[in-house]
Amino acid sequence: MFGYKIPFNIPPYVGGEMDNLEKACRVNRKICGDGEFTKYCKSWLEKRTGSPEVLLTTSGTDALEMAAHLCHVEPGDEVIMPSYTFCSTADAFVLRRAVPVFVDIRPDTMNIDETKIEDAITDRTRAICAVHYAGVSCEMDTIMDIAKRHHLLVVEDAAQGVMASYHGRALGTIGDFGCYSFHETKNYSMGEGGAILISDKNAAEEAEILREKGTNRSQFFRGQIDKYTWVNYGSSYLPSELNAAYLAAQLDVADKINDTRLARWNQYYEELQPLAEAGRIELPTVPDGCRHNAHMFYIKTKDIDERQQLIGWLKENGIAAVFHYIPLHTAPAGLKYCRFHGEDVYTTKESERLLRLPMYYDLTSENVSEVCDRIREFYRAR
Ligand SMILES: Cc1ncc(COP(=O)(O)O)c(C=O)c1O
Repeated sequence: MFGYKIPFNIPPYVGGEMDNLEKACRVNRKICGDGEFTKYCKSWLEKRTGSPEVLLTTSGTDALEMAAHLCHVEPGDEVIMPSYTFCSTADAFVLRRAVPVFVDIRPDTMNIDETKIEDAITDRTRAICAVHYAGVSCEMDTIMDIAKRHHLLVVEDAAQGVMASYHGRALGTIGDFGCYSFHETKNYSMGEGGAILISDKNAAEEAEILREKGTNRSQFFRGQIDKYTWVNYGSSYLPSELNAAYLAAQLDVADKINDTRLARWNQYYEELQPLAEAGRIELPTVPDGCRHNAHMFYIKTKDIDERQQLIGWLKENGIAAVFHYIPLHTAPAGLKYCRFHGEDVYTTKESERLLRLPMYYDLTSENVSEVCDRIREFYRAR
């Protein structure tokens, strides 16, 4: 992406990262997991989201893997999710030999269509995985009501939803498990990393063991037991202190990052509104009660041909704009492991029209105006 005058993404760097890294390496002499900075990020996230338990993980993918494990999904169980998502959402359950069952999305938010979920439930359904696309919440009241009535668990893939909320509740805290990503493409980053948010205390204990190679080492470090041992199946989902040190600096200025991104998002929206009003493009929708985090700004073009031409035009002008997910049910692994329930009315059609514009913390107001100018020129010439 570098080489563009305005790249699609630049990972956030706010200035305090190097001091934190230096402290971890030279002062604390602690660079494996669960040191000062990991604990700082954990308690920051717990306070900020209201989640009773947050564990930093090695990626958003790993947070999802942990969630799938903690749901006790068995081979052949079904998990309802959208096909318009990142492959990790499905991978986490495929690893457990469960079957992702896709239902269509809503064209306004690109999120799972909550009205299509109930019809996809069978006696093998174990969970619903709600993906909050672009940091805009799914219709969680409806989803939680369906889950309650059918005794299903709810996993929120809030990889893109840090600092966003639904009717005042932080994304990731509404279902049984929430999964965040701190990959370098996200609003707050640690290079590679993530977090799992857990609503139930028993599941939290199980998660601690799962994350620490199946040992009760965390209880040992808290002085709750005399020696630690291998108590259950586990893996290594604990990130290094170096990654947490980088993230801690960004959480310290999380509101500033959020406000800056929202200002750029609102500027895109206002500058492009005349084109939307003229029926040339569509702009994103944020339903009432959803507070988004400006993770992404996208537009929708007439069709895939127009989108590809616009990508080419922006590229000629030094601007990187990119499309997003190819629906999972059309991918080779999707055909092998998953099935689509009902009709694909919007998933493919809307994904082909969607184009993401540059969005990152260092993006300037002038950059946004330049991108919008070029888009206006493109449509003027047609
Ligand atoms: C919706 C969604 N789920 C999961 C992930 C995986 O997160 P990570 O890259 O941290 O593993 C991503 C990352 O892009 C994502 O967008």
